[in-house]
Amino acid sequence: MQTKFKEIWAARTKLIEENLHRELHNTPTIDEKIFQAMEYSLIGGGKKLRPILLMAAADAISNEGEKFLPVACAVEMIHTYSLIHDDLPAMDNDDYRRGKWTNHKVFGDAIAILAGDALLTLAFEVITRQKADPKTLITVIREISTAAGIGGMVGGQAIDIQSEGKRLNLVKLRRMHLAKTGALFRAAIRSGAILAGASDEKLDALTKYAENFGLAFQITDDILDVTGKTETLGKSVGSDTRNNKSTYVTLMEPQEAQILAELTVEAAVDNLKIFGDEADFLRELVEFLLNRKS
Ligand code: IPE
Ligand code: IPE
Ligand code: MG
Ligand code: MG
Ligand code: MG
Repeated sequence: MQTKFKEIWAARTKLIEENLHRELHNTPTIDEKIFQAMEYSLIGGGKKLRPILLMAAADAISNEGEKFLPVACAVEMIHTYSLIHDDLPAMDNDDYRRGKWTNHKVFGDAIAILAGDALLTLAFEVITRQKADPKTLITVIREISTAAGIGGMVGGQAIDIQSEGKRLNLVKLRRMHLAKTGALFRAAIRSGAILAGASDEKLDALTKYAENFGLAFQITDDILDVTGKTETLGKSVGSDTRNNKSTYVTLMEPQEAQILAELTVEAAVDNLKIFGDEADFLRELVEFLLNRKS
């Protein structure tokens, strides 16, 4: 099972990477610089968790996850844009991402901002290339756009920035994390399930799995900011401390945060009990979070 998990992950990563490259190169551009900046961050790095989750959720419903590659790649484009902007001097001011210099360090702030904007809009162009029933696709566009915007990722990022130097309580921290990180995971998983024609019961179970996944993911992200190594993590460590952020590691000891991550992963797995082995990949993927080094 373990090898199968790794094999699926590797095959899907390759598929996603190739399609991201294809979609980007299929898009006419009137400026070479912006194209280079987009390609620099989008291609050749990152774990591809969100598109992998989108396809895995679809697989758990209909075993046809690969059919939804365009929407999966669109979610990765939105995620990459969020990283480029998150690293800007006006935000977290980080130098290192996905094993290399951050976008603005190479291309300058203005081009980095525009590369992010262009990836966000390209995502929605790419979604229109998805073969699906138009009504279903509109539902998916609503899922993804609301998750990426002020009710989700952008809203969470705004709270994150305004909370620097303040001590959030656990309830507020959880709410912020569910938005800034959880919303996109939730939209990815729900979109995969909706495209594959999930019943209300299965969609509900996968939504709860997704919320726990997002939370467990951000708890481990907070831990890794303190305990991780730049070489394996591929991004700057100590960023949260430098920016005076409230995180799971400032509100509790790293060991306690790790226990909370374990409980959250358990809850995520528990949400999948109505599924058989068609959800094994999802079970293993959330368990991977507990020991991840990158
Ligand atoms: C990092 O996400 C940003 C957060 C939402 C905390 P990932 O750890 O998934 O980043 P990549 O895509 O692998 O670079
Ligand atoms: C940012 O969270 C989440 C995003 C929406 C990009 P972090 O600021 O903790 O992400 P990293 O640690 O820089 O990847
Ligand atoms: Mg940040
Ligand atoms: Mg950051
Ligand atoms: Mg972080």
